[in-house]
Amino acid sequence: MAVIFSGIQPSGELTLGNYLGALRNFLEFQDEHECYYCIVNQHAITVPQDPKELFANTRKLAALYLAVGLDSKKSTLFVQSEVPEHVKLGWVMITSSYVGELERMTQYKDKSQKQGDSIPAGLLVYPPLMAADILLYQTKYVPVGEDQTQHMELTRNLAQRFNRLYGEVFTVPEIYLGKGGARVMSLQEPTKKMSKSDDNQMATIRLLDDADTIAKKIKRAQTDSLNHVHYDKENQPGISNLMGIYQAITKDSLEAIEAKYEGKGYGAFKGDVAELLVDTLQPIQARYNELKDSSELDVILDQGAQKAHEVAAKTYRKVELAMGLHRK
Ligand code: TYM
Repeated sequence: MAVIFSGIQPSGELTLGNYLGALRNFLEFQDEHECYYCIVNQHAITVPQDPKELFANTRKLAALYLAVGLDSKKSTLFVQSEVPEHVKLGWVMITSSYVGELERMTQYKDKSQKQGDSIPAGLLVYPPLMAADILLYQTKYVPVGEDQTQHMELTRNLAQRFNRLYGEVFTVPEIYLGKGGARVMSLQEPTKKMSKSDDNQMATIRLLDDADTIAKKIKRAQTDSLNHVHYDKENQPGISNLMGIYQAITKDSLEAIEAKYEGKGYGAFKGDVAELLVDTLQPIQARYNELKDSSELDVILDQGAQKAHEVAAKTYRKVELAMGLHRK
């Protein structure tokens, strides 16, 4: 049984990108693998968070994990800050990293732009903490969206660097990108990724958006004037993004989608995309509403933290022994 690990930040309402690029793929593994799915709240504080919102978003995300179909009997669901080995190994990974390689991370470059002298140091050392999350569980596959590719490369480099210096302690993990949906783009600027933190509400579908909102956002999604449902990311990025969403849900090939909408124009296609999204998200929303205030959530997260801690502590002990960080 290979180990699977992934995490999502509780830093705002999840988007369709988080769902298609990550969450949905978490489900694929839980029947046959040892899965750990974490709510990475310590990653979220690399940018300022409102304490009340962070607290609430952590619970919301746990409820969403369950609502999409994760089963706490099959997958270990837990909150990062409740397993102290994450920051312990995070520090070790920070000391194994070079400033140059961290400064080259495109997410760091994007997020630190326009911050002058006040770039939070956490933004720079975020990827070694992510590496620690993954390596603590001897993870083989990490289901994430395409935007995490560079962080995954760094994680592999850090694991290999450590193993070379101190002996074979870590499994070197691999990225797992699902078929379709690995990079969902903004509905308003389709050359930019759909992001939780986008200020333009029309740019993102939220997992908890109601049917009318979804229909409105898809209808107003930026397209072009060709009115031809055709996949061409370069020249028709907007319609290509909608086709990617359609494909991720139906698993139809792009050619099959083109053939189905030949001569039908964008209106009919957009209507169908909206309907597919509503059909996909409504059952998740219904389960989410049942779960969000239930005490079951706390039991699941308590048990998850305990299980994760047992496994993480074993790996961390190996790290201490390998590095001479122990006393006995
Ligand atoms: P985060 O919280 O930004 O996003 C959670 C997951 O959603 C994916 N994602 C997308 N996929 C497709 N299209 C999009 N537009 C889109 N936007 C987001 C992300 O790739 C991610 O899989 N660094 C991570 C959190 C993290 C983590 C980890 C992940 C911390 N430690 C260990 C895996 C393993 C992040 O910021 O994700």
